[in-house]
Amino acid sequence: MYLTSTQKKQVAASFSKAATQYDNYARLQHWTVKQVCQRLGLADSDLSTIRLLDLGCGTANIIKQLTNDFPEKAWLYTGIDISAGMLSAAEQKLKTLNGHQIEANFAIEDVEQFSDSTQLMAKQYDYCVSSLAIQWCDLDKVCQQLAQFLQLNPSAEIVMSTLLEGSLAELNQAWQSVDPAHSHVNEFLSFQVLKQALIQASLRYGFSFELEQDWHHLSYSSALAVMQELKHIGANQVVTQNAKQFYLTKEKLKQLEQAYPDNDDGEGTPQTTKIASWHLGFIKIRRA
Ligand SMILES: C[S@@+](CC[C@H](N)C(=O)[O-])C[C@H]1O[C@@H](n2cnc3c(N)ncnc32)[C@H](O)[C@@H]1O
Repeated sequence: MYLTSTQKKQVAASFSKAATQYDNYARLQHWTVKQVCQRLGLADSDLSTIRLLDLGCGTANIIKQLTNDFPEKAWLYTGIDISAGMLSAAEQKLKTLNGHQIEANFAIEDVEQFSDSTQLMAKQYDYCVSSLAIQWCDLDKVCQQLAQFLQLNPSAEIVMSTLLEGSLAELNQAWQSVDPAHSHVNEFLSFQVLKQALIQASLRYGFSFELEQDWHHLSYSSALAVMQELKHIGANQVVTQNAKQFYLTKEKLKQLEQAYPDNDDGEGTPQTTKIASWHLGFIKIRRA
């Protein structure tokens, strides 16, 4: 996804607006954070202090999960994000983790372009993580930053999650019947396109990678509930090229609800709940 600087500001503002309630609604994000943490393989690490950089850290759910999974470890944690509101919620959350040994710092930083001034790159990190942030970014720019990060931290491991094509397909289908001329759901890279982009970046910037995919399905009471959840977590900015603001009248909402696919249980019985599908990519990167 390529965002203009205006769009990036809008994305940051949406997340900031949602920051205080984000954790109450971020069901997909909590599930995905667990997947990212498992893939770090920390159970096999004999390091007593883990030095961790979190890109697009949001409300710092990753460090919360890790301190829960590995209470005996100490942490040097840096979280970066473009949303000031999310960072301030992250700082608040860190205060609730006071039984753990965490030295944390946060910085407003763009994952596409680390600044020198924050000394981010001067520290030695063992791990770099990112969960559900890079789908908002230009992948090649992120890979360039990660390659520089690996030059400074050659033995570090990077684990990231992102969204793939097929995510929110049901909502997209419903919107197509209401307003076929415009996009109302963000477009994500397909698994194959992501893989090709990573192959090219790995050759250009000199790293090796592994890519996995998975699906996660969540149920909702209505199509409106799907859209409300996106708004509650701040992920409601549609940045696809032909996106357009749309005033959803009662009539149009009814049409949208009717066009949203039924939750079929596989035996032909439509259920009252709606399902939203999420297609996730998990990327592991190391120095080549
Ligand atoms: C869906 S939230 C995920 C937050 C957190 N990682 C989690 O899993 O709960 C996406 C986060 O990415 C941040 N983000 C989006 N684009 C970014 C960029 N270019 N640089 C840094 N952060 C970015 C947003 O501000 C938001 O906090």
